[in-house]
Amino acid sequence: MTEHLEILLSEDQIQNRVSEIATQLRQDIGDEPILLLCVLKGAFPFLADLAKKMTGEVLFDFIQVSSWEGGRESKGSVRIKKDHDFDIKGMHVVIVEDIVDSGLTINHLRELLTTRQPASLRVASLLSKPDARTHEAQVEYIGFEISNVFVVGYGLDDDERYRNLPYVAAFVPSSTSD
Ligand code: PRP
Repeated sequence: MTEHLEILLSEDQIQNRVSEIATQLRQDIGDEPILLLCVLKGAFPFLADLAKKMTGEVLFDFIQVSSWEGGRESKGSVRIKKDHDFDIKGMHVVIVEDIVDSGLTINHLRELLTTRQPASLRVASLLSKPDARTHEAQVEYIGFEISNVFVVGYGLDDDERYRNLPYVAAFVPSSTSD
C-alpha cells in the first residue's frame, strides 16, 4: 500500500502554541533559572523554538533515551543512551519532549530525575497521544493532543527521515489513482 503525508499541524500553529508554553513556563516558575532538558533526538526543534521564546535565564542540557529505536512500534523498555551533563540538584528542570505516546519514556525519566533532587520537575511535550497510553504519565504542558496515528516532522522521524519538516504530518493511504 502506498501512503503520503498530510499536514496535521502547520508551522504557524506550532509556533503560536510554543510561544504560549514559553510564557506559561516563565509565569509558573518565576524569575529563577530554568534548565530545559531536551530528550534527543526528537525534541530538538521544540527545545530550540521554546528556548528562543523564553525570557530570563535559560540553560539547556540533553539526555538521550530510546524505546522506539527508529521503528513504528515501542520496544517496551527504556535505554539511556546519553545522560545529562549538569548536576540538576536544586534546579528548576523542564523535561522537553516531542511526544508522549505510551508514557513509558516520560514515566521512566521522571522517576530517574526525581532521585537527582531538582528544585522542581515539569514535563513539556509538544504532542500527546492520550489514546496510546499504557503507562501513567504526568505532563504539565501539552502543545497538542492528537489521535493515535503515526506522525513525523518537527523532530519526529520515520527511520530517521522527516525530522527536518517545520510541520507535523501523518501518513495516510494514497488512493490508487494518486
Ligand atoms: C520517542 C519520543 C519520546 C518517546 C515517546 O523517542 O521522542 O521520547 O518516543 O514514546 P513513549 O511515550 O511510548 O515512551 P524515540 O525513542 O523514537 O527516539 P527519537 O526521539 O530519537 O526519535
